Amino acid sequence: MKRSFIREILEAIDEQTISFAGGLPDESLFPVDDLAEATRQIVTNPKHFQYTVSNGIRPLREKIADLYNAEGFETKAENILITTGSQQALYIIAKYFAGRTITIEKPSYLGAVNIFKMNNLRMESVALEYDGIDIDGFRDSFGGTGLAYLIPDFQNPKGSLYSVEKRESIAAIVKKCCGYIIEDAPYSELYFGSKAPSISRSIPDQSLHLGSFSKTLSPSLRIGWVRANEKMIARLTMIKETIDLHSSGITQHILNAYLEDGARYRDHLEKLRHAYRDKMEYFAAQLRRIIPEFEFEEPKGGMFIYGRLPGADTKELVYRALEQKVVYVPGSEFHLGDGVCNEIRFNYTHSSKENITEGLERLRGIL
Ligand SMILES: Cc1ncc(COP(=O)(O)O)c(C=O)c1O
Repeated sequence: MKRSFIREILEAIDEQTISFAGGLPDESLFPVDDLAEATRQIVTNPKHFQYTVSNGIRPLREKIADLYNAEGFETKAENILITTGSQQALYIIAKYFAGRTITIEKPSYLGAVNIFKMNNLRMESVALEYDGIDIDGFRDSFGGTGLAYLIPDFQNPKGSLYSVEKRESIAAIVKKCCGYIIEDAPYSELYFGSKAPSISRSIPDQSLHLGSFSKTLSPSLRIGWVRANEKMIARLTMIKETIDLHSSGITQHILNAYLEDGARYRDHLEKLRHAYRDKMEYFAAQLRRIIPEFEFEEPKGGMFIYGRLPGADTKELVYRALEQKVVYVPGSEFHLGDGVCNEIRFNYTHSSKENITEGLERLRGIL
């Protein structure tokens, strides 16, 4: 197992480095005043500092369930397990399925791949195209594994969005074969057009749908969740208990207070989508101007632009980029195996426009 390049980079970079590496939200868009007001309400009650239940405080689970219900995906508080970020949800789920074989996308999210390795899950990769996973490959693989890990909305790292047809095909295959999909959806709310229907909605008993407030409110809250059938939630709760008893109670109460005003949260999401769309368009335009040989498609949401630099070994290049104080993630990090790779993932949400231009100019100099 190797450490996540991104987490190592986050530790290594200094103030002068322009980072397009981590999947970091734009701090200037955190709703700091509203979260501070929610915090003030919560911290005066000593009960909020007490131990709490393992599956998460009920009013917060109800509010998360309501987010699903609003989209026509029938969900009760009993279908929700609150976790310490969706990263912990992945860990708990991997513990449950330990030793199995799992179908994943190629490339996939390194944070999940590492968890799967640690829990002795064998991985079968199926090519990910811009409109989703290759369906024939998925059918062949899932027929054997009966378990898959997919990121259908603005995938990390590729930014791809599954088409409605591919979502329907996957749901049909899963229904026919039995088994489960793990649908990881931390970027689902960051769409620039309209929201895509989750695959899980068509197979509510055969899916574990993962959500998170990290990309929409703040990653520091460390609040994510799993939506699954009640039996599965009970099993996962047992595993969670052995890990940390429960996710931070005080944070759950603060988040619950913040979400009391549903309209305020919806407005915040709207603002976020506009701001990120603007940044993506800016980043894409600067890329076309400064590094025209970089081949990519504009994403329809999320946080990443992914593409190819023909003829380059982007892993070798990144160390020279670091010396010039600019950094991105080389595509090789997201593929299983260490072959030479000319792909790059850029995060466009975190840097200011000024730094986007400056960072790309520095890369141009190296190229
Ligand atoms: C696809 C995917 N899943 C899960 C996570 C973990 O997010 P968190 O634990 O902050 O909810 C990330 C973070 O970048 C991610 O990209």
